[in-house]
Amino acid sequence: MKNNIVVLTGAGISAESGLQTFRDADGLWEGYNVYDVATPEAWQANPEMVQEFYNMRRKSVLEASPNPAHYALAKLEEKYKVTIITQNVDNLHERAGSGNVVHLHGIITKAQSSKNPNLLYDIDGWELKMGETCALGSQLRPHVVWFGEAVPMIEPAAKICAGADIFIIVGTSLNVYPAAGLSDFVSKDAEKILIDPKVPDLYLPNLRAIAEKASVGVPNLVKELLERI
Ligand code: APR
Repeated sequence: MKNNIVVLTGAGISAESGLQTFRDADGLWEGYNVYDVATPEAWQANPEMVQEFYNMRRKSVLEASPNPAHYALAKLEEKYKVTIITQNVDNLHERAGSGNVVHLHGIITKAQSSKNPNLLYDIDGWELKMGETCALGSQLRPHVVWFGEAVPMIEPAAKICAGADIFIIVGTSLNVYPAAGLSDFVSKDAEKILIDPKVPDLYLPNLRAIAEKASVGVPNLVKELLERI
């Protein structure tokens, strides 16, 4: 039975939860220079500013709630094996009840040692302060993948994509690699559905593009998929 669903999500799925996307007209990268806040060089040059930027993002995430798109994807697990591969650093998929979420770009509610990236800690509340250190004594930084850093979860994610019977893409401009290349690993026979009000340029065999907001398009698609089996 074709019941293995893989979903690739981006900032657009959390837009209706009140979290800004990156590249839309009112997106985060309109107000900030990526190189000032989201690179290892920025962390070297001005860690306080980087910390402040992610503290603000973390505050917004903690204040936000999952929307109908996140909840609908969690409901898919009633009848399908579902893996969500998200580029988002928020935890809205988990809070909606999804049990199998791969965070390609890290998760903002965790802190990471600046000496050993495998040393992770849960952050209590929204603020990670300068002076807070890991067990090795080095400053804690947000557990997010910055531009110019390796994406350690990309290989497991590619393998997961290769096993998809149904591949769903929601709310990503597909501008950032290697995440944007994951659809290349999906089999040509798999059914593919993309939901985004501004459908990005993407050629894939068997692709159905739905120009809708996530909060409408995803629950409709989930209803259709649940009615199939
Ligand atoms: N529902 C669905 N999609 C939406 C909605 C919505 N309500 N609103 C906007 N979108 C779509 C936009 O049309 C766009 O295609 O979400 C996408 C957002 O694209 P980006 O801002 O580029 O976000 P994303 O693709 O997730 O960015 C990838 O870039 O800076 C980094 O690390 C960051 O993980 C992020 C990566």
